[in-house]
Amino acid sequence: MSLPLFQSPKPIDDHFKSDSDIVLFNGDVKNLLAEIPDNSIQLIITSPPYNLGKDYESRVEIEHYLEQQADIIADLYRVLKDEGSLCWQVGNFVENGEVYPLDILYYGIFKKLGLRLRNRIIWRFGHGLHASKRFSGRYETILWFTKSDKYIFNLDSVRIPSKYPGKRHFKGEKKGQLSGNPLGKNPSDVWEVVLQDWEQEIWDIPNVKANHPEKTEHPCQYPIELVERCVLALTNEGDWVLDPFAGVGSALIAAIKNNRRAVGSDKEKEYVDLARQRILSYFNGTLGYRQLGTPVYQPTGKDKVSKIPDEWKEVYEQRNLLESKGEYSK
Ligand SMILES: C[S@@+](CC[C@H](N)C(=O)[O-])C[C@H]1O[C@@H](n2cnc3c(N)ncnc32)[C@H](O)[C@@H]1O
Repeated sequence: MSLPLFQSPKPIDDHFKSDSDIVLFNGDVKNLLAEIPDNSIQLIITSPPYNLGKDYESRVEIEHYLEQQADIIADLYRVLKDEGSLCWQVGNFVENGEVYPLDILYYGIFKKLGLRLRNRIIWRFGHGLHASKRFSGRYETILWFTKSDKYIFNLDSVRIPSKYPGKRHFKGEKKGQLSGNPLGKNPSDVWEVVLQDWEQEIWDIPNVKANHPEKTEHPCQYPIELVERCVLALTNEGDWVLDPFAGVGSALIAAIKNNRRAVGSDKEKEYVDLARQRILSYFNGTLGYRQLGTPVYQPTGKDKVSKIPDEWKEVYEQRNLLESKGEYSK
């Protein structure tokens, strides 16, 4: 097996300089943004705090939360290049059992600034907490906006294998010619990146939890692979990628790994320290992560956890009996 090639380490600066390669800022995002010149960042990609009362946030009224975010977003707009993109990854804010879809609440803030929505990407995952009073949530979204109509979209860098590469046009001028692309197909706006097998390990097979390649102590980390697709499609080598709420640095690693310049801030020193360690581990070849495009884990049916446990067999058999008599749906 050949070992992957790692880049030679680059210095990590703690304040923004135009000639830096990597900037990790510990402090409020507004203070980092004050250091960044107008019209300089090609891609802003982040998962902001959801106002859920996680370790790193105090929960406030939803209106107040959105006002605070709108203030930060106005600064993000200023630093974004005219041909730049902004990707905002969010789920739901939940209060007293009522669900507030954050992307819908955020949309107006971006639209008011003149940003143009290109995709509302569904990031679908197969596992998670089981709800008892509503359907269990199994997706979050990424709003991809551009600042203008002139923007980078490197589709060929993110094509995925086609299911039917041998498909041909069956009528018209191109009849008989191959209809696909030898580089693969457009990955579409529904992404089933990694969380499925990530959570499989966390929730279903706790004894391998500690072995997961990416997970750190951060409660809401997103996978490097998810960001990589955006980095490859929406930027070119040498461009700046900014994550204003960088957590443990997943977006920065996705950028560095693909020869982009990376800048991020987090107000928690603990996360910034972890981000620094992860970047250094990337450079010395010890960082565990899933390679872009790794197939999603599918249970084989032979694993113990994918079999019906003895204690539930009776209930399953009764249900199957009712289904076969057509009584189950009454
Ligand atoms: C949802 S997490 C992002 C996690 C990140 N995507 C990762 O993979 O590690 C949001 C992060 O924003 C940080 N944060 C919240 N408010 C902030 C602020 N005003 N300035 C800087 N960081 C902030 C939190 O400490 C938290 O780590």
